Amino acid sequence: MRGLRGRVAVVTGGGRGIGAAVCRRLAEEGAAVAVLDLDAKPAEQVAGTLPEAGAYAADVGDPAQVEDVVRRVLARHGRIDILVPCAGVMRGAPVTEMTDRAWTEVLTSHLTGSFTAVRAVTPAMIAQRHGRIVLISSIAARGIADHVNYGTAKAGIAGMTRSLALELGPRGITVNAVAPGFIATRMTREGAERRGRTWEEHAERAAEGTALRRIGTPEDVAAVVAFLASADAGYVTGQVIHVSGDP
Ligand SMILES: NC(=O)c1ccc[n+]([C@@H]2O[C@H](COP(=O)([O-])OP(=O)(O)OC[C@H]3O[C@@H](n4cnc5c(N)ncnc54)[C@H](O)[C@@H]3O)[C@@H](O)[C@H]2O)c1
Repeated sequence: MRGLRGRVAVVTGGGRGIGAAVCRRLAEEGAAVAVLDLDAKPAEQVAGTLPEAGAYAADVGDPAQVEDVVRRVLARHGRIDILVPCAGVMRGAPVTEMTDRAWTEVLTSHLTGSFTAVRAVTPAMIAQRHGRIVLISSIAARGIADHVNYGTAKAGIAGMTRSLALELGPRGITVNAVAPGFIATRMTREGAERRGRTWEEHAERAAEGTALRRIGTPEDVAAVVAFLASADAGYVTGQVIHVSGDP
């Protein structure tokens, strides 16, 4: 499958986890991928294995840094067709103990980070009359105890998806989101540590809570992202697709 040949993608948080799997999958489909992450090293490690890919160090919480990356990608490739903002952190605590910093870090990395990246790439997509934006929500948008910051941010992503779909549809741009369930990445491993569980115990409990009785892989998510970024999904917009092994 080389359905994305000639397409250029920007993936934030591409240095590991779901973002890295998305970079690999989009590249497999033929896209040139800009791998953006906080630190250059993980981004370079991912980009180094992919043809036509580039690594970019930037904090998605700083609009100037994101805009600079987008300028550099446009200077190199002349277009941006696909945006997948995967960057973000979890900072859990009961609401009575949640610090302003934990609240702000989570909302900034997920919500402001996604918004800023969308705003930066949209002029090029409008000029091309073609764009595919795939945002990353979560099953946590339905509610997650001890993570009011994260649950709020991920529900916000669903609202962002539908609002942008309405606004950008007439310009030839589709906007969808995936809502992953429990996926094996550093983010969920840190969750096991926080709860004082072994990874195996934590993963097994999560698997038992799904209809398919297994946890997800970053590749499970990347496959759906690649579909939403493809020509096959040309008549799909404003949708939040759960990739969670569960209804
Ligand atoms: N793992 C899961 O179970 C799960 C479930 C639902 C949704 N998600 C979402 O998927 C996305 C990826 O999660 P993951 O599990 O791969 O996490 P991860 O922690 O493994 O990877 C996140 C990546 O984002 C980068 N990042 C964090 N803050 C950044 C910033 N300010 N600027 C630039 N890069 C930054 C990190 O350096 C890291 O490479 C996140 O939006 C997460 O909320 C994950």
